[in-house]
Amino acid sequence: MFFITACGGAASSASATPEPLAACQADNGNAERGQALFEQDVLTYYAGCITCHMAENDIVLQGPSLKGVATIADSRVTGQDAETYLCKSILAPNAHVVDAFSANLMPPYYANWLTQQELDDLVAYLLTLE
Ligand code: HEC
Repeated sequence: MFFITACGGAASSASATPEPLAACQADNGNAERGQALFEQDVLTYYAGCITCHMAENDIVLQGPSLKGVATIADSRVTGQDAETYLCKSILAPNAHVVDAFSANLMPPYYANWLTQQELDDLVAYLLTLE
């Protein structure tokens, strides 16, 4: 039996959702855990990073290879250091769209899906990709 009101219930419970993440502290992250998260086929509710990004080689999947991204990240956006850029590219993928790639491909929901610890672990890992 279906209760139509269940929809309304689900919508109003959205107010219980924690605030989306807004910043990173890679110092608190663990790169090994970050790598394990990165390599999960499914991360929280959706295809994981590894389904769109290679990190160990230059092969381009749906997203750019992240080999060397820690070095690139330092100069991608004026005024953002590598940690800030990598953090933002997970939290707000459309804030800077990498040349030759389309916006709106990378899921914009990681700010809601990840815990602060998972985010910091991922950024700590990305910072090792020099
Ligand atoms: C459905 C495919 C997809 C998934 C899943 C995905 N990405 Fe992306 N990502 C992209 C695309 C496409 C771009 C390039 C366009 C843009 O900048 O938004 C990108 C860009 C990036 C960049 C910027 C790279 C650069 O050279 O500046 C980083 C860093 C990144 N993604 C990390 C991640 C991480 C970490 C995850 C997992 C939490 C992830 N991505 C999941 C598709 C994806």
